[in-house]
Amino acid sequence: MNKIISTTATLVAAFTMLLSAGGQVAAKGDPAAGEGKAGLCAGCHGGDGNSMAGDFPRLASQYENYIVKQLLDFQKGHRANNDTMAGMAAMVASVQDAQDIGAYFNSQKMSKEPLFPIDKELARKGKKLFLEGNPKSGIYGCVNCHGKNGKGKSPNVSVFPVIGGQHRDYIIKQLKDFRAGARANDPAGMMSDIAKRLSDSEIEAVANYLSGL
Ligand code: HEC
Ligand code: HEC
Repeated sequence: MNKIISTTATLVAAFTMLLSAGGQVAAKGDPAAGEGKAGLCAGCHGGDGNSMAGDFPRLASQYENYIVKQLLDFQKGHRANNDTMAGMAAMVASVQDAQDIGAYFNSQKMSKEPLFPIDKELARKGKKLFLEGNPKSGIYGCVNCHGKNGKGKSPNVSVFPVIGGQHRDYIIKQLKDFRAGARANDPAGMMSDIAKRLSDSEIEAVANYLSGL
């Protein structure tokens, strides 16, 4: 196995073992309380977390703890790739509010309809990259962290977000932000290390594939 890939694999195994063994904070939000608090977010992310524009990510069925982490990262400036969202995160007054909102969006079903038409040829290439990575450039297959169909690795391992069914354009922006270092809030640099090895055409391909799942 490629050395970079085997190092990454060891790291992922360690994270997964640690987190599924209870190292992860349990989800604590109240979705019913979160529904009202999420009203603030509806204009961009949709009332049920299925936003209708490619630059606003879908939050429906995303892990509660991942949503909480992103909100806190925006508040603390650890995620600095969007000023609009940083301003919105600043309006979430407490960790409890973040948990309630996270629990509410997590309880919503993600829409199965992609916003953009899927390019079949690109999606085919993207699927190969998703499953197998690219051993030549040291890219570990996305499936190893993001799970089958990008729907998460396991219910207890929210460190690896749901990306299957996310908007194409949002995925492209995140991968380019990680690659350029504009987004650098990933634990142990796991995602940036991979993004730095992705070509523009690989990013297009995998985003096409993922947005159709
Ligand atoms: C004015 C539009 C707007 C509003 C209102 C808004 N957001 Fe966002 N949000 C964004 C944008 C744009 C992004 C993507 C930022 C980027 O490009 O990285 C984002 C990203 C996020 C993310 C990161 C998702 C991921 O997959 O990593 C979370 C979580 C989030 N928003 C939660 C919220 C919550 C909770 C609220 C309400 C309190 C809210 N947002 C209100 C525009 C908005
Ligand atoms: C070694 C594990 C690992 C691998 C392999 C991996 N990722 Fe990630 N990825 C992560 C982690 C961890 C995060 C969350 C970072 C954070 O906490 O902000 C992430 C975040 C993302 C995000 C941002 C999600 C959002 O909602 O903002 C996208 C998009 C993404 N990954 C796509 C990919 C693609 C495409 C591949 C394969 C080419 C891939 N990832 C491979 C660990 C990985």
